[in-house]
Amino acid sequence: MARRKLIAGNWKMNGHLDHLRELHGIEKAARAHPQVDVAICPPATLIAAAVARVPGLAMGAQDCHSADKGAHTGCLAAPMLREAGAQYVIVGHSERRADQGETDEDVCGKAEAAHRHGLMAIVCVGETEEERDESRAEAVVTGQIAGSVPRDASADWLVVAYEPVWAIGTGRVPTLDDVSAMHAAIRSKLAETIGEEAQGVRILYGGSMNGDNAADLLAVPNVDGGLVGGASLSADKFVPIVEAGA
Ligand code: G3P
Repeated sequence: MARRKLIAGNWKMNGHLDHLRELHGIEKAARAHPQVDVAICPPATLIAAAVARVPGLAMGAQDCHSADKGAHTGCLAAPMLREAGAQYVIVGHSERRADQGETDEDVCGKAEAAHRHGLMAIVCVGETEEERDESRAEAVVTGQIAGSVPRDASADWLVVAYEPVWAIGTGRVPTLDDVSAMHAAIRSKLAETIGEEAQGVRILYGGSMNGDNAADLLAVPNVDGGLVGGASLSADKFVPIVEAGA
């Protein structure tokens, strides 16, 4: 099945208003390659300003609460992010699973909230180095899929991102064979979890993706795009990844 590639940038806790200047070059590349979906997930404080500045470029958030409103100091609800102009929301990033102790159940609730409010949910999964060394990577990741993906998910609102924790921000990437095996395992677990819809769900690779390795990674079967951290912070580094996806 043909799946449109998605190249998404995750700025994490980086960037102030002046950083939005980088978006012009990224928007230009997105317009030049309409066959690829491109999105940037800046800090939530910048979403509305980013949309005003580059209305043609899709924006996303980096987290949402599972509830639509309520007594949750410091949290942001999916409808708020939608109102700010977000079209995507990353849920279950390993940094949040580690720092905030988010469980698969939490992540599943967040993905459901995203869907209720018209956001595309990018559900992140990935094993630690220790889990890979102990040959548990596939079991861990498929377990995360089973627990974090809502049973009623469909390809028009669910994206999965496989991000091996040990590859994030380290300059280390798995072999292409390992990426291929994991993405195939994810596709098959998705099929068990949500049925036929699994064939249309995009599975992104994330972890030290850059302009030099993107073309090879994006050519691996079942790799339908990238979730890019460090290299998404500048147009110079991100645009070659968009081009590699085209
Ligand atoms: O969500 C993106 C991410 O965790 C990968 O980060 O800096 O290794 O591209 P980076």
